[in-house]
Amino acid sequence: MCGIVAYVGEKKATPILIDGLKRLEYRGYDSAGIAVFGKEKIECEKKKGRIRVLEDSLSVDYPEGNAGIAHTRWATHGAPSDLNAHPHWDCNKKILIVHNGIIENYIDLRKKLKKAGHAFNTETDTEILAHLIEEHLKNEKSLFEAVRKALNEVHGTYGIAVMSEEHPGEIIGAKNGSPLIIGIGDDEHFIASDVSALLPYTRRVVYPRDGEIIRITKDAFEVRSIKSKEEATSKVEKVEWSSDMATKKGYPHFMLKEIFEQPLVIRNAIAGRIIPEEGLAHLGGLNYTVKELLQVDRIMICAMGTAYYAGLVGKYMIEELLGIPVDIENASEFRYKRIILGKNTMSFVISQSGETADTIAALREIKRKGHRVLGVSNVAGSTIARDTDGGIFVHAGPEIGVASTKAFVAQIAVLVLFAVKMGRHRDMTVEQGKEITEALVKIPAQIESILEKSDEIKKIAEKYKDVEDFLYMGRKFNFPIALEGALKLKEISYIHAEGYPAGEMKHGPIALIDKTFPALFVAPKDSVYDKTINNIQEIKAREGDVLAIGSESDTELPKMVEDFIAVPETIEVLEPLLTVIPLQLLSYHLAVLRECDVDKPRNLAKSVTVE
Ligand code: AGP
Ligand code: GLU
Repeated sequence: MCGIVAYVGEKKATPILIDGLKRLEYRGYDSAGIAVFGKEKIECEKKKGRIRVLEDSLSVDYPEGNAGIAHTRWATHGAPSDLNAHPHWDCNKKILIVHNGIIENYIDLRKKLKKAGHAFNTETDTEILAHLIEEHLKNEKSLFEAVRKALNEVHGTYGIAVMSEEHPGEIIGAKNGSPLIIGIGDDEHFIASDVSALLPYTRRVVYPRDGEIIRITKDAFEVRSIKSKEEATSKVEKVEWSSDMATKKGYPHFMLKEIFEQPLVIRNAIAGRIIPEEGLAHLGGLNYTVKELLQVDRIMICAMGTAYYAGLVGKYMIEELLGIPVDIENASEFRYKRIILGKNTMSFVISQSGETADTIAALREIKRKGHRVLGVSNVAGSTIARDTDGGIFVHAGPEIGVASTKAFVAQIAVLVLFAVKMGRHRDMTVEQGKEITEALVKIPAQIESILEKSDEIKKIAEKYKDVEDFLYMGRKFNFPIALEGALKLKEISYIHAEGYPAGEMKHGPIALIDKTFPALFVAPKDSVYDKTINNIQEIKAREGDVLAIGSESDTELPKMVEDFIAVPETIEVLEPLLTVIPLQLLSYHLAVLRECDVDKPRNLAKSVTVE
C-alpha cells in the first residue's frame, strides 16, 4: 500500500527517487509521482499507472536538483488518475506533499479552508494537507513549525514528506499510523516507507514513532513530537538486510525466489533456538518469566490473511501439545468487538510486514485494556516490532512478493519453537521435545525434496489453467493449509478458490461440485486420513475431479484421484510446513500460465497499511 521516498543530498535526486519507488513497487499502487527542486522552482510530474509511465513522461531536461519527494499511491479517496496522484500542492503550487494513510477529518478541514479562500483541484483527502500548511505558513517562517501545527489539526493516519519552494534544502516528514523511516547517509539523508528503498544507499536508519515530525537536510536530521515539539530520542540502527536480498537473483519472480528460499528460511528461523538432543527450544524476547509462563491459561493470536492462517496452525499445534485453549482472531473483527482477555491470557499478534493497519489497531486495543502483547514479525523496526512488549523475529529476510510464502513457514516454525519452549516448562517430556525438535531439523531438507517437483507441479497446473473455481479441503492441521492454499490461488491467479474443513463439505460446498468444479484435498497419512479419504470418495461419486496432496508412502490415494502430489512424511504437528509447499507452487504456476502479475497481483498490496 503506497510508497514514499524523499532525498536531500549532493547527488541528483531524480534517479534516486525513481529507483526508490521501483524498490517499493511490491507494496502495491495505482499511480506514481515525483517533485524535484529545480533551479528556480519545484518541478512536479505525476501519472496514473506504473512507474514506467511516470518515467517515460519525465522530459529530458527534467531538473537535476538535489532534493525531492516521490510517491506511489494506492487510492483511498478519489479514483486513480493523473490529477489524484501525489504530490499534491497548495494554491500557489509552492508547497508539495506526498502522503500514505487516511485523513479522517478531511471534509471538515476542506470546508474550513474553502471558507478561508482555498481552491481544491482533486478528490483526495491528502490535498487538504498542502492547503493547511499553506495557511499556517502565513504566520510561520519555519516549514517545520507550519507542518507541525497543521498536523495538530489532523485526525487520521499519515506518513508524509513535504517540501516548499520558499524553504530549499529541507524536507519535512511525519508519522502517525503509517510506516516511515529516516535513512542516514554521508552528506545526504532520506525518508522512505521502508528500508527496501534505501538499501543501495545506506543501511543506517532511524525509526520515528507515531506522533513524531522529522526534518532532513543534506547534513542533518531531527525528530520531534508533533504535539509538544520536544526532541525525540532517535537511535541510529543498522539494517541487517543487504541490497541484493531484495533482488530476484535470477528468478523470474520474487515469489518463486521466496518459495525456493524456504529451506534456508526455516534453518535461519530455528538457528540457535533449539537443542534437539535435549528437546529444548530457547526464545529470547518473550519477556515472560518461567513463573509467568506457567500461569498462562489461555492464548490469543490475532492477525490477518496468511499470518492469520499461520496463527490457526499455531492454535491446532499449541492445543495439541500443551492443552492450553487458543483463540485465533481476525484483527479487523477483533478490534471492534468486546475484547475478553483474562489476566493469564497470553496475547500474540502475527504480521510479516509489521505495518498492517488492522493488526496494529488490534494490538493497540489490547494494550489499551492493560494487557501485554507479543509480536511474531519479520521486519525489525516495524510498528508492530516496536510497539509490542516482546516477541519472536522470524528472520525470513525481505519478503517482496505480495503473496506471502517464506514468512508463512517461518511463522509456523517459530510457533513450533514456542510450543516446545512452553511445553518443556510444563508436562512435555524430554522424549516428546526431542521428537518435535529432531523432526523440525529435518524439515528444510524435506522441503527441498518437494521443491524438486516444481516442474511436475507445473505440468499438473497446465491441466487446470482454465478452471474458474476450486474447492480446497483438509482436516485438523491441514484445514488451515486448505485455507492458505485457497488464498494463494485466488490472490495471484484470480481463480475463485475456497478453503473448507473436509468434514464441512456435505453441509453445503459439495453442491458446487461437477466436472467443471474440481476439489483439492490435503490428505497426508495422519490421524484423520481415513475420514478424508471418505470425503474424496464422496466427490468422486459425483464426478468431481480431485487433486490430492498426500504422503510419499501412500499407494492407494494416487489411484483414486486425477492428480497426486507426494510430500515426505513427518510428525503430524509439522505436516503444514510440508503440505503448503505444493500449494504455493501450484498457485505460482497457474498464475504464470494465466499471465497474471505474480509479484504485484491486481488490487492487492504487500502491506495493507490503511483500513
Ligand atoms: C498473503 O499472501 C497476503 N499478501 C495477505 O493476506 C497478508 O498475509 C496479510 O495482508 C497480512 O499481512 P502481514 O503479515 O504483513 O500483516
Ligand atoms: N488517502 C490518500 C489518497 O487516497 C493516500 C493513499 C495512500 O496511502 O496511498 O490519495
